[in-house]
Amino acid sequence: MSTGAIAHIVGARPNFMKAAPVIRAIASLGLPQVLIHTGQHYDAGMSDVFFTELDLPSPDLNLGVGSGSHAAQTAALLVTLERAFLELKPRVVVVYGDVNSSLAAALVAVKLGIPIAHVEAGLRSFDMTMPEEANRRLTDVLSDLCFVTSPEAIGHLAREGVADERIHLVGNPMIDTLLANLDRLDPVRIGTELGVSGMYAVATLHRPSNVDSPEDAARLVQALTDLSGLIPVVLPLHPRGRPNLEAAKLVASDRLRVIEPLGYIDFLSLVRGAALVVTDSGGIQEETTILEVPCLTLRPNTERPITISHGTNRLIDPAGLVPAARAILEGSTILPAERPPLWDGRAGPRIAAILASELATMG
Ligand code: UD1
Repeated sequence: MSTGAIAHIVGARPNFMKAAPVIRAIASLGLPQVLIHTGQHYDAGMSDVFFTELDLPSPDLNLGVGSGSHAAQTAALLVTLERAFLELKPRVVVVYGDVNSSLAAALVAVKLGIPIAHVEAGLRSFDMTMPEEANRRLTDVLSDLCFVTSPEAIGHLAREGVADERIHLVGNPMIDTLLANLDRLDPVRIGTELGVSGMYAVATLHRPSNVDSPEDAARLVQALTDLSGLIPVVLPLHPRGRPNLEAAKLVASDRLRVIEPLGYIDFLSLVRGAALVVTDSGGIQEETTILEVPCLTLRPNTERPITISHGTNRLIDPAGLVPAARAILEGSTILPAERPPLWDGRAGPRIAAILASELATMG
């Protein structure tokens, strides 16, 4: 494995679709790169399927860190990433999004004097009870290059003292992946495979604030059960939520289909054909914005307000789910006139070009 390369660090499901277009664009410039998978996510359905479908190269290293408490997982990430960076001596480390793997990689890199590029910098929910908010803020502070997906992120970074020359508005690599795969998204095929026809909703829920406490899980199960009275619901269930949602008497039925997590193409095919989506994911707020599918986000805040101002997203609480869904089904949704700026499928090449020119000036 070559030393002195650009090292991409991925670990959890939402990293894979962000890294794919950046890796492809860097490959087309002929720059040396390595892919390190931390193993934060390790199930075939949470990880392997994305490598196959998104044509990602196999990781050069898989650190096999796995699950644990935040402290245990982050500590294991720090130790194994330090070993990897000492061996590989990357010229720059590229981290994606707000997961524990990204913060750990940035922390190791800064101590070893390796420059850091953060893709999807500057997003803020201003809610420090979210583990991701701590990860975002700390990763940005440590990063030499902040690649920003949304204009308001520039202001957040500037207010936190990040110098202008470190901030680059490049568009959204997750949307690069979506646009590149649009022709493969077939709602009829997935509907037939899953036995879903007519109008349906898709739900995904995994945030600690929604599924970790029995009370929150019970509120959510009630809201989803009520929603399924209005419209059939398909719930591909992240492994994190399953035990608590089942303990809260999540009962699968013909109208509330509980299935295993889906791969990229199947999931977005299902979303494309849905009348509405209910989620607490960050990325799905963005993907529904581009697919123009109404999105109800079960959270009190979002680090992606552009999906509300320029997209289909709305924040709701569990009690508001059925009324909001009813309003959508009655046709009250109005799409904004403009999509978010630069969500045009070219973020990967923009990031690659900036990295190449920074590496050239580093000599
Ligand atoms: C992580 C990210 C979150 C992201 C989400 C996408 C952090 C802090 N959180 O949350 O931002 O939205 O990924 O999925 O990094 N598990 C499995 N198999 C797997 C992975 C996880 O069974 O392949 C189970 C384990 O019980 C594990 C739990 O899910 O303890 C949580 O996994 P973890 O990576 O800690 O956090 P996520 O909730 O997945």
